[in-house]
Amino acid sequence: MNFIDVYQRSGIYPLSLPTGIGMEAVGVVETIGVDVVNVKVGDRVGYVMGPPGAYAESRLYPADRLIKLPDYISDSQAAAILLKGLTVSYLINKTFPVKKGQTVLFHAAAGGVGLFACQWLNKLGVEVIGTVSTDEKAGIAKAHGCHHTINYTREDFTTRVEEITDGKGVPVVFDGVGEDTYFGSLKCLSPFGVLVSFGAASGPPPELALAVLAKKALYITRPSLAPHTATPELTEEISSPLFEAIRGGISISINQTFPLKDAANAHRALQSRRTTGSTILEI
Ligand SMILES: NC(=O)c1ccc[n+]([C@@H]2O[C@H](COP(=O)([O-])OP(=O)(O)OC[C@H]3O[C@@H](n4cnc5c(N)ncnc54)[C@H](OP(=O)(O)O)[C@@H]3O)[C@@H](O)[C@H]2O)c1
Repeated sequence: MNFIDVYQRSGIYPLSLPTGIGMEAVGVVETIGVDVVNVKVGDRVGYVMGPPGAYAESRLYPADRLIKLPDYISDSQAAAILLKGLTVSYLINKTFPVKKGQTVLFHAAAGGVGLFACQWLNKLGVEVIGTVSTDEKAGIAKAHGCHHTINYTREDFTTRVEEITDGKGVPVVFDGVGEDTYFGSLKCLSPFGVLVSFGAASGPPPELALAVLAKKALYITRPSLAPHTATPELTEEISSPLFEAIRGGISISINQTFPLKDAANAHRALQSRRTTGSTILEI
C-alpha cells in the first residue's frame, strides 16, 4: 500500500472509471501471452505503478513491466518496499545524487519512504534531519538512522534546521508532505539548494511565483516514479542499487499488515498518520 492509493481513491489524482486501485504488488505468474519471453509461468514477480488494479487476487498485467525478485527478498518484503525503495533509489541517486558528509532534510521520516531513506542515507555517510509528528515516530526514525528529529507539529522546523546546520541550511530537502511544509522547505535550503517536492500527503503544494527562488538561486523539481520505470532499462537502473542496498543490510519495516478485504481501514490508518514504515495488504 502506498500514499498514491489514497490520492487515487480520494480523487486528488483522478482515475477514469471503472478502475481498480493499487500500484504495487507481488505474486506468481499464472499464465502468459503468446509473445511473452521475459517471464514464465511460476515466476515470482513484482510490479510498481500503472496500470492501477493491484488490490486484487489475480489480474492481467503488462509482462514487460514485471520485475523478477531476488531470492533474498520475501514476498512480504517486496510488497512492502518495491515502490517506496525504487522511489528512494531514484531520489538520492538520480534526482539529487547525495554525497558523503552532506546534511539533508527528509520530511515524514518515520513513514514508509522515510524509514527506508533514513537508513540508506545514513549508510552513505549523509547526515539526516527528519521531521515527524510524534515522539514515538521520532524514536522510530532515530532507530533507523535519522540523526536529528524535529517534531514539526510543535516546533518550527525551519528554526531547528537553522540551529542544527549552524545557520548554513541544507543543500536538499526531500518533501513528500507538500502543502504544510512547502514554503518552510524552501527556507531551509542553502544557496543553490534543491527542493525535491515528491508528494503531497498534507495536500498539493501551493502555487509559487518563480521570483521567490531568486534570492538564493534555488531549484525546485517535482519528480515521479513513472518516468523512472518507463522502460525495463530505466527500471533496472534504479532496481539494481535498491536490491544491493537491501542485500547490504537495509531493513524493511513492515509495521502494519491488513487483510485485503480491510483495505478501507488501511487507508484510514495511513491517511490519519497512524502508520509508520510500510503497510501491506495480504490475501
Ligand atoms: N513522486 C514519487 O515518485 C513518489 C513515490 C512514492 C511515494 N511518494 C510520496 O512519498 C510520500 C510518502 O509516501 P508513503 O507511502 O511512504 O507514506 P507515509 O510516509 O508512510 O505516510 C505519509 C506521512 O506523511 C506525513 N503527513 C504529514 N502531514 C500529513 C497529513 N496532513 N495527512 C497525512 N499524512 C501526513 C505523516 O507522517 P507524520 O505523522 O510523521 O507527519 C504520514 O505518516 C507521499 O507524499 C507519497 O505520495 C512519491
